[in-house]
Amino acid sequence: MGKIILTGDRPTGRLHLGHYVGSLRRRVELQNSGEFEKIFIMIADAQALTDNADNPEKVRQNIIQVALDYLSAGLDPEKSCIFIQSMVPELTELTFYYMNLVTVQRLQRNPTVKQEIQMRGFSEEADENSNKKGTPVGFFCYPISQASDITAFKATTVPAGEDQSPMIEQCREIVRRFNSTYSPVLVEPEILLPDNQACMRLPGTDGKAKMSKSLGNCIYLSDSAEEVTAKVKGMFTDPGHLQVSDPGKVEGNTVFTYLDAFCRPEHFEKFASCFVSKKSSFTFTSLDEVKAQYRQGGLGDMMLKNFLAAILNDILEPIRARRAELEKDIPAVFEVLRKGTECARKEAAQTLEEVRHSMRIDYFNDPELISGK
Ligand code: TRP
Repeated sequence: MGKIILTGDRPTGRLHLGHYVGSLRRRVELQNSGEFEKIFIMIADAQALTDNADNPEKVRQNIIQVALDYLSAGLDPEKSCIFIQSMVPELTELTFYYMNLVTVQRLQRNPTVKQEIQMRGFSEEADENSNKKGTPVGFFCYPISQASDITAFKATTVPAGEDQSPMIEQCREIVRRFNSTYSPVLVEPEILLPDNQACMRLPGTDGKAKMSKSLGNCIYLSDSAEEVTAKVKGMFTDPGHLQVSDPGKVEGNTVFTYLDAFCRPEHFEKFASCFVSKKSSFTFTSLDEVKAQYRQGGLGDMMLKNFLAAILNDILEPIRARRAELEKDIPAVFEVLRKGTECARKEAAQTLEEVRHSMRIDYFNDPELISGK
């Protein structure tokens, strides 16, 4: 059996560099590798609604933004089926059956759910009289819905960030439980993590944990060159590196984390001029040499930031140009989504039929049952 990819994003904002290095860039490579029989990329609007029920407009507006980010980053609708989650209602039905194969206690132990509940301030003490918000049931159950997203397409491979590992583990458990309780129709997926440590969890421009819209520390794929440069200039480096001549620290230095994630050998020649100034000049041929010089002292943060901004803009420029083209014809982008959704729906309907058959709840297709004997 061929390998199948399913992955996706919640449409709660434009995609940023964290998404790009954490999964988007990889998806495009996987898409073009020819190793996969089918590729499904889902805009997870229903999942986004699990904690945005009071703001469907935000989700609605961001569907097109995420689609534009996908296409401009190089996802090709000829090779990848890009679709909208809520427009495939089969996924919801699968979720309803899978819910019976998972316990409340197991969901409560899911580390990602735990962490996200805490981040959103959902509280045990919530009731009608307090202004504390409780956890929406739909939100609590989203790992189950995610298992439906994956299994509906018999996905073997889920390219995603480290934070999604507990989701995939939970999905595998559901698959095993389903296959042993009924009959083996579902496929156990594997997560495909980013291959570079810096890409696993790209920090925000403030050096804080993760890039996140709510922390305002993101560089978006759709940012202009000026915005990118300004954000890089404002990045955190080594607070102990006060004078250019001081030895600097590379570990925990956000600019170096970004260089680890984005810098490629060809950038040293292409942007050699970033390391030339009236006061000092360097010729580097690898990131290790840059790091050694920074540790030794003499290499200023400004040079380093100019180099990073040049690299980021070099990577983002073609993406921006494609986005500008695509934005001229929004109906065509919706047409891509409509076609993708149609194709995804066929696939999910096929799996749902097998699931119902396996559970023997496909009553009207069961001559023995109908005959009454
Ligand atoms: N949870 C993912 C996110 O927050 C989005 C998502 C929904 C997903 N369903 C999925 C990712 C299935 C991988 C597989 O970005």
